[in-house]
Amino acid sequence: MAQIGIDIDLAKSILEEGRLVGIPTETVYGLAGNALDAEAVALIFETKNRPSFDPLILHTSSLERVGDFVRDFPQELKLLAETFWPGPLTLLLPRKSIVPDLVTSGLDRVAVRVPKHDLTLALLESLEFPLAAPSANPFGYISPTQPSHVEAQLGGKIPYILDGGACAVGLESTIVGMEEEEVVIYRLGGLEIAEIEKIIGVVKIKDHSSSNPSAPGQLDSHYAPKKPFILGNLKEMISENLEKKTAFSVLSFSDFFLEVKPKNQLALSPGGNLHEAAKNLFAAMRQLDESSADVILAELMPESGLGRAINDRLRRAAAK
Ligand code: TXA
Ligand code: MG
Repeated sequence: MAQIGIDIDLAKSILEEGRLVGIPTETVYGLAGNALDAEAVALIFETKNRPSFDPLILHTSSLERVGDFVRDFPQELKLLAETFWPGPLTLLLPRKSIVPDLVTSGLDRVAVRVPKHDLTLALLESLEFPLAAPSANPFGYISPTQPSHVEAQLGGKIPYILDGGACAVGLESTIVGMEEEEVVIYRLGGLEIAEIEKIIGVVKIKDHSSSNPSAPGQLDSHYAPKKPFILGNLKEMISENLEKKTAFSVLSFSDFFLEVKPKNQLALSPGGNLHEAAKNLFAAMRQLDESSADVILAELMPESGLGRAINDRLRRAAAK
């Protein structure tokens, strides 16, 4: 089992030895290793059971340090970095050769971000290298938003988890890059599109799917619970399943259903707040996945603001 604590010096020395540490960020917990050490990076892929064609995000402590890893920083993207870092924004930038091939899966661009979490920023500042860190879950499963989530699934494989409490945002970072002169969003995430558009105007959103591996990052089935996860109209699905006498549990945005036992249902935000829903999403999916139900019934959020990113995760969880 991994040790869990707030010892930054210990985390630092483990990372300097080429081993891995679970780190908190504002989005989700990361499985971190020395991004400039190809062996440590290989260990990340092995530990997560992640295919090597799915590249990793490089985490660093400040905008100033990014120049060490990238050849060019287009004006629009720099403006976003200045506005939103530290924060839930990842930028795709042309990499320098100091970044190992394995980090980018051989692609010319490297994904970079400055996470917003005091412990992790202090750790990054103390290190002489950046950290490569995918979400700290086995490949394809739900991302972790609490140290106990990391411990439950990777605890046997890593020596240390830095305990930064529950993640404030709860959804992975929004991934942004450029194609020709155009700014493109490749993954919806914790930074809302409207926030980005306030700074640089209208951006393009690129659909991603498993059939297009050049479109970064996203296989259709992802963030997936082990139990069947079904999206639809909750009222209708509940009455059908009550009739069929299925053992089900319910994940709603804000509604509570009198016909369902309280222990078999979770509302992501009883007050209907999308930020709260985002923060609770992955922990709620895990909790229901560990319940005794045979199936999880869920509904989409309103398709606006963070609701879009939450719905993206819900659809992927349902796509099996
Ligand atoms: O919020 C986050 O971004 C979290 C925390 C730990 O920082 N990290 C995270 O990493 O979500 P991961 O590995 O689970 O997702 C990173 C995504 C992947 O889907 C990957 O394909 C994409 O970023 N990505 C990474 N490098 C890329 C690159 N060079 N080009 C295109 N996509 C890239
Ligand atoms: Mg992930």
